[in-house]
Amino acid sequence: MQTVFVTGGAGFIGSALVRLLIAETDWRIVNIDKLTYAGNLESLFEAGRNPRHVFSRTDICDRAALDALFAQYRPAGVIHLAAESHVDRSIHGPGDFIATNITGTYTLLEAARGYWSSLDEAGQRAFRFHHVSTDEVFGSLGPTGFFSETTAYDPRSPYSASKAASDHLVRAWRHTYGLPTLVTNCSNNYGPCQFPEKLIPLMILNALAGKPLPIYGRGDNVRDWLYVDDHARALKLVFERGEPGATYCIGGHNEKTNLEVVDSLCRLLDRLKPRPDGRSYLEQKTFVADRPGHDQRYAIDATKIGRELGWRPLESFESGLEKTVRWYLDHPDWVAHVQSGAYRQWLEQHYGGRA
Ligand code: NAD
Ligand code: DAU
Repeated sequence: MQTVFVTGGAGFIGSALVRLLIAETDWRIVNIDKLTYAGNLESLFEAGRNPRHVFSRTDICDRAALDALFAQYRPAGVIHLAAESHVDRSIHGPGDFIATNITGTYTLLEAARGYWSSLDEAGQRAFRFHHVSTDEVFGSLGPTGFFSETTAYDPRSPYSASKAASDHLVRAWRHTYGLPTLVTNCSNNYGPCQFPEKLIPLMILNALAGKPLPIYGRGDNVRDWLYVDDHARALKLVFERGEPGATYCIGGHNEKTNLEVVDSLCRLLDRLKPRPDGRSYLEQKTFVADRPGHDQRYAIDATKIGRELGWRPLESFESGLEKTVRWYLDHPDWVAHVQSGAYRQWLEQHYGGRA
């Protein structure tokens, strides 16, 4: 049984990946997460209680703690998702983004390199450091064109600049030290267990609470939406079969304006959970001040990962969005714990604070 480190495994995408890896492999997963406001162990469901899941509450900036984990568990690889992930938060307070996304990735790379250098030749060849990144590092597109593996970097928010820096560090550790790295750059994810600061869960929960649905600017910014389980499958595939040193772009072929997304959500909710007064959730749409430096359009050309690794998304935007809305309607406990802050007590209750 091999051991794999997943950082950020209590977050939105990390928890989907941990659930997938526990279900579909016999690997032991060491889930390394600091449990910031975005970390929620409840999102792991049964996978969190599986004996092959080991949780460690660790900050990726803590070199000594990381060294101890590498020495204790001797992993075959690392899939690195831990990050500060929300663009609006990065605009209001960039400090945590610089610390975790840049210094944290640097610290993790150095801990991984120290451990990797101690392996025999076969162990070194087999080891993988997979860095999970975003399409936002490429900047903003006009009405046409796509981001691909050869697009030049042009990050424009504190979040995307910090992720770009981390991508550069990872590639530098490959070129300079030979660490077998992989980088994936993915478009906007949506699905179960996403923290309700991001567009889709925020709109679902605001709609149900009878609150305004705040649309930035004119609502004509475009994102390329990918269902989170499709991303998790792509990450597993790249980690297992990707070419060391390579980059793979991952995207959903689902370009939508924010207005289209909000309208679709309102119509779904009108069908699945009609408003008590019989009116449409569309009436709650509200245009608000734009996000500073708001990138206009993202879209990914995912040809390479399809051609080389045979990946393609299984969900359409329509099927994925309906699954997502149903998931939020069917999980009032998860939602209530996130909204009340009770999810932060889970660690104490289930691990006696010892993790
Ligand atoms: P998230 O905010 O939901 O989760 C991040 C997780 O990282 C949380 O569990 C948090 O506790 C943990 N974390 C934060 N700082 C840490 C630290 N210093 N040490 C250890 N753990 C720490 O994020 P997400 O949306 O799941 O994104 C995961 C990764 O995927 C990020 O690297 C993000 O940049 C990337 N990504 C996200 C999207 C998206 O649409 N959400 C798209 C492409 C790429
Ligand atoms: O593209 C990948 C990126 O997608 C990831 O790297 C980030 O971690 C992830 O947060 C996401 O970034 P975005 O800024 O695109 O996602 P967000 O959900 O914050 O916003 C999506 C779009 O919706 C964006 O154009 C801003 C707009 N928006 C967002 C919120 C929260 C609104 O109009 N109103 C809102 O209230």
